[in-house]
Parts: sequence; structure tokens; C-alpha cells
Amino acid sequence: MPLTQQQAKLIKDSVPALKAHGNEVTKIFYSNLLADNPSLKEIFNTSNQFNQHQPRALAAAVYAYACRIDDLSTLGSAVELIANKHASLYIQPEQYDVVGKYLLAAMKEVLGDALTPDLLEAWRAAYGQLADILIKKEDGLYKHAHGWTDWRDFRIKKKVMESEEITSFYLEPVDESFKPLPPFLPGQVCDPHCRQESWIVFIDS
Ligand code: HEM
Repeated sequence: MPLTQQQAKLIKDSVPALKAHGNEVTKIFYSNLLADNPSLKEIFNTSNQFNQHQPRALAAAVYAYACRIDDLSTLGSAVELIANKHASLYIQPEQYDVVGKYLLAAMKEVLGDALTPDLLEAWRAAYGQLADILIKKEDGLYKHAHGWTDWRDFRIKKKVMESEEITSFYLEPVDESFKPLPPFLPGQVCDPHCRQESWIVFIDS
């Protein structure tokens, strides 16, 4: 449901608090989310938690969203980038509920009484609106991926040192079901010599 004018104003008014406390909010958010939902540790890169990259990226995204609440069309490439990252990890629509719950709880923990009931409701609506945008975009990406929307096991067929810094990993599916692979992107190459269609992923070693 779209935000009311009053809610949009409340969100804009909270931008300075978000700027001041956004990193603290998202740090607490990740800490509590991952402590209570250990299975999510499999998809979150722990070094991005350790170096604070991920909490900062989320805080920046929420801040950018709050600043643009009157004209979401200006979010543009940021939505594209986040949705692609999410789709690469098979994030599912139902996971947005748990993330929203922990994000709002972290806001409450940091902002205390400054997060009035009206402001909390405004952020609940704003989060729901942002989640809908991302869910729709990710749904489009999953359709483009020919219905392959879950993890699939691959084995490393061979490993080639291309240089001191670059190693190529040749991957092939273990199920040998000949299910097609999604189209590859820059940084991934289809190996014409493999029995099955497969990718080469270049990883900076
Ligand atoms: C409105 C809600 C959300 C926003 C604004 C958001 C925002 C972001 C941003 C900005 C990034 C970093 C992108 C990059 O580094 O390129 C990211 C990555 C990620 N997001 Fe979300 N996200 C949301 C919901 C979710 C949900 C529901 C999940 C599922 C549990 C999720 C899981 C992840 C994961 C696993 C990563 C990669 C983290 C890593 O590299 O360690 N996100 N998200």
C-alpha cells in the first residue's frame, strides 16, 4: 500500500536521524538477525560483516531510499544492483518479512522514544514499499533465469592458474541432468570443450 502524505513527511523528517545513526542501526540489525537465524549465515559473507561493508551498504540504501521517498523513480540503478545481488543468492519474498521485523526492532533499539508509534508505522509502510519494489525486480530476474531459482551443486572440474593473481575454476553440475544453465555474464565464460555446458568463473586469488 502506498504511503500517506503524512507518512512520507515523517520519513523525510527522519533522514537526519538516519544519517547520524544508520550504521549503528544496521550493525545491531545484522547482529540480532544472524544470532536468531543462524541458517542465514550461509548466505551472508562473514567478512562483509567483520569489515562492516554490509551494514554500511544497507544503511546507505535505506538512507538513499528515505531521501527519495517522494520520487522513487530516481532510485534507478541502486534497485537493479541490489536485486541482482539478491537474485544471485536466491533471496525469496518471504525472507523480507523477517528482515523487516529485525530492521524495525533495531531502529527502536537505537532511536528509543524518538521512534514514535506514528514514525514506526511510517517506516513499516516504507519498508514494505521498498520490499515490494525489490521482490518484483527479483521475480523478473528469476523468470529470466529460466525457472532455475534455487541452489544447485557443482563440482570443480579443473582449476587453472592463469597468472599469479588469477585462477580459473571450471565448474560442472553434479546432477548430470542436462538442465540448462542460465545465460552467463561478464566474468563467466562458456567452455566449449566441456561435455556439458559449463561456466568458467574467474576468481581473484
Ligand atoms: C528492503 C530490504 C532490503 C534492502 C534495502 C537490502 C539492501 C541490500 C544491499 C544494499 C546489499 C549490498 C549490495 C552489494 O553489495 O552489491 C544487500 C546485499 C545482500 N542482501 Fe539485502 N536488502 C534487503 C533485503 C534482504 C533480504 C530479505 C535478504 C534475505 C535474507 C537479504 C540478503 C542479502 C544478502 C545475503 C546480501 C549479500 C551480503 C554479503 O555479500 O554478505 N537482503 N542487500
